Amino acid sequence: MSSILRIALQKSGRLSEDSYQLFKECGIRFDYGTGKLKSVSSNFPAEFLFLRDDDIPGYVEDGVADLGIVGENVAVETARNVVTMHRLGFSKCRLSIAIPRGKAWNGISDLNGKNVATSYPRLLGKYLQEQGVSAEIHEISGSVEIAPSIGLAEAVCDIVSSGSTLLSNGLHEVETIFRSEAILVANPTLDDERQTLANKLLFRIKSVQAAKNNKYIVLNAPNEALTHITSLLPGMKSPTVTPLATEGWSSVHSVINENDFWENIEAIRAAGAEGILVIPIEKMIH
Ligand code: PRP
Ligand code: ZN
Repeated sequence: MSSILRIALQKSGRLSEDSYQLFKECGIRFDYGTGKLKSVSSNFPAEFLFLRDDDIPGYVEDGVADLGIVGENVAVETARNVVTMHRLGFSKCRLSIAIPRGKAWNGISDLNGKNVATSYPRLLGKYLQEQGVSAEIHEISGSVEIAPSIGLAEAVCDIVSSGSTLLSNGLHEVETIFRSEAILVANPTLDDERQTLANKLLFRIKSVQAAKNNKYIVLNAPNEALTHITSLLPGMKSPTVTPLATEGWSSVHSVINENDFWENIEAIRAAGAEGILVIPIEKMIH
């Protein structure tokens, strides 16, 4: 195979660090943070391009890059012809309407006849239309939060993550119009070799994500409680049960989902389990 996958990542910003971390966990090594705008992986047929996030959907559509990691907010706003391959679950943020603190807010219809500054005219326009609100949208490409204080707009519509940008500009959030996270996007017409590589990468990403969502659990249980305890531990197929040296006791090994972890642990303890160990999983292949 001679193809090399070109992957566009954000040069610096909300997505950069977590994107790099994800590839690291997938065992894909490349130089990052050296100031260079391109880097070839030393152990996977991929070349990484470090770009402005807003430009990534366009580059992926045009085939300059085969894949890209971008915020869903940017992907939807730019409306380029790219395929969402996978949701990545990091860099979560929201697109919200905010107004100066201390100003009254009775609902979205307050924006009728007002000016709203945003870098997201498409998403905002769609939302206002759905709400039957007619406001003037002022598109600006950055530092949107300054608009009310310089008299450019009565409200803004911008990305909020920690909320500190709003706070330091005397604004407060009144309406969330879109929730976003990082997504992996692909050019819709990848050739077979590149599609194969993209699938290989996706498989690794899913294994890393599955591992993060699960823990390996080891515990000791009295034999009479085994049926009950193993029913609380579905595992990947079924739990592994081996006898302990102590008569009447067994060791149980399984995998437990992070989401129902605490509830399950309580039930397992109540059923008679002792010496419970919970261990992180590095990779998980289904
Ligand atoms: C957004 C937004 C704010 C900041 C809000 O910028 O424009 O500046 O994030 O984050 P906070 O709530 O944590 O303060 P973004 O990261 O999208 O930068 P960009 O427009 O340069 O891509
Ligand atoms: Zn940006």
